Amino acid sequence: MSSSSIFLFISFSFLLSFSLGTARAASAKLPSSPRALVLPVTKDPSTNQYITTIWQRTPLRSVKLTLDLGGKALWVACDRAEYVSLSYKPALCDSPQCKLAKSRSCDNCWDGPRPGCNNNTCSSVVYNTIERSGQIGELATDVLAVQSTDGSNPGRIVRVPNFLFSCGSLFLGEKLANGVKGILGFGKSATSIPSLLSSALGINKKFALCLSSAKGVVFLGDGPYVLLPGVIVSGPAARLTYTPLLINPISTVYPVIRGFPDQSWPSMEYFIGLESIKINGKIVPLSPKLLKFDSKGYGGTKISTVEPFTVLHTSIYNAITKAFTNAISKVPRVNPPIAPFGTCYKASSLGSTRLGPGVPSIDLGLNNNVTWMIFGANSMVYLNNSEVLCLAFVNGGKNVRTSVVIGGHQIEDNLLEFDVVRSRLGFSSTLLGRQTTCGNFNFTSKV
Ligand SMILES: *[C@@H]1O[C@H](CO)[C@@H](O)[C@H](O)[C@H]1NC(C)=O
Ligand SMILES: *[C@@H]1O[C@H](CO)[C@@H](O)[C@H](O)[C@H]1NC(C)=O
Ligand SMILES: *[C@@H]1O[C@H](CO)[C@@H](O)[C@H](O)[C@H]1NC(C)=O
Ligand SMILES: *[C@@H]1O[C@H](CO)[C@@H](O)[C@H](O)[C@H]1NC(C)=O
Repeated sequence: MSSSSIFLFISFSFLLSFSLGTARAASAKLPSSPRALVLPVTKDPSTNQYITTIWQRTPLRSVKLTLDLGGKALWVACDRAEYVSLSYKPALCDSPQCKLAKSRSCDNCWDGPRPGCNNNTCSSVVYNTIERSGQIGELATDVLAVQSTDGSNPGRIVRVPNFLFSCGSLFLGEKLANGVKGILGFGKSATSIPSLLSSALGINKKFALCLSSAKGVVFLGDGPYVLLPGVIVSGPAARLTYTPLLINPISTVYPVIRGFPDQSWPSMEYFIGLESIKINGKIVPLSPKLLKFDSKGYGGTKISTVEPFTVLHTSIYNAITKAFTNAISKVPRVNPPIAPFGTCYKASSLGSTRLGPGVPSIDLGLNNNVTWMIFGANSMVYLNNSEVLCLAFVNGGKNVRTSVVIGGHQIEDNLLEFDVVRSRLGFSSTLLGRQTTCGNFNFTSKV
């Protein structure tokens, strides 16, 4: 379509919707708007990071990024030679982009002009949650492209012309997996990828993570989401269970640089309300205080794609370990266990089931009176050439900021739907029970 015909089309739809009334106008979309987008994910075996690929710049090139569920925004390396693009635009001081990113700075750069180094631009703090570090980077926009989906296969590539991101530097990135050039944040901020794609393309501010130990998928926007062999994992057919997403009133991002983030802002991470844990049907005694936020934002339960295994406050860790080992006290333990885990068994002494190693399930009782059952495939991890199986929970110590950080291994092959607008998490429990896995999205495009 030429630009004049787009203009004509827009004015025509405007007239049409005008005559049909405002209710229609609100939902009117260009016919080419996608309903959903899809991102491929792989797990890097040496770092346990979940890695996705987007397309960016002019000419378009693929960029590998580590996925950070609670991350603020997209940041990519703008080191010299790393970043080449004809469509790079720095965000000028006081522009709407600076306001969206809550940046109040205005900087000059003596080493440019080049991507990441321009005069009269605002900057943004770039977080590397893997390293727990931060740096200041120029805020900018460039073309971003992702694949649309009908839910079953990828469709055409959708371009967003001015996608906001931060320019970082790879000097911080040593702990990022090989080939990774930045971090893609899905957090509850105005600059995260779900927020920006939702406002640019009119898709629902909702996304679903489906990670696995090899290949996985992220959907953005409305379902259906379908995995081979034709298993619908969204909507009523998927029988997802819902629990509210909670707001931790205090920011959980570190470090604080130039007063960012302001500690009075709520956390951008996804918290849920864990009320109880049962193992083998028996309540595990836990301190209720640790399960709630205190006035400084400590406590509570969040989901993280950056922690490879669930990290627990020491007292919760001890209580779970005790209940679990008591429940299978007849099975001999391997001593010493393999760090960082504290409880290991010979794999051959535990049976195997459709849902992984045959161990008692760990049942998380969540707000809304719902239960997230964690079966062997998610509670145990194979080590030493699959000869040893360890309880895949890590002792985080007594000073952890968040008492329960549900990590990557525990959410693999579970579909998690984050509905930001309705502020709820839908979860499937293990898909192994439905004869599919998160590695089963059909990435072959329909032509
Ligand atoms: C920024 O402005 C200064 C003068 O104020 C100039 O010396 C410098 O080259 C400029 N840098 C860029 C990147 O344009
Ligand atoms: C919670 O769910 C259980 C089992 O589904 C039910 O027996 C119980 O009455 C429910 N409790 C509340 C408070 O809804
Ligand atoms: C795991 O493998 C390492 C290296 O081969 C070995 O030293 C260790 O004893 C093994 N641990 C267990 C619990 O089998
Ligand atoms: C994946 O999708 C393609 C394109 O629709 C189709 O030809 C192929 O048969 C599908 N693969 C499987 C395993 O169903």
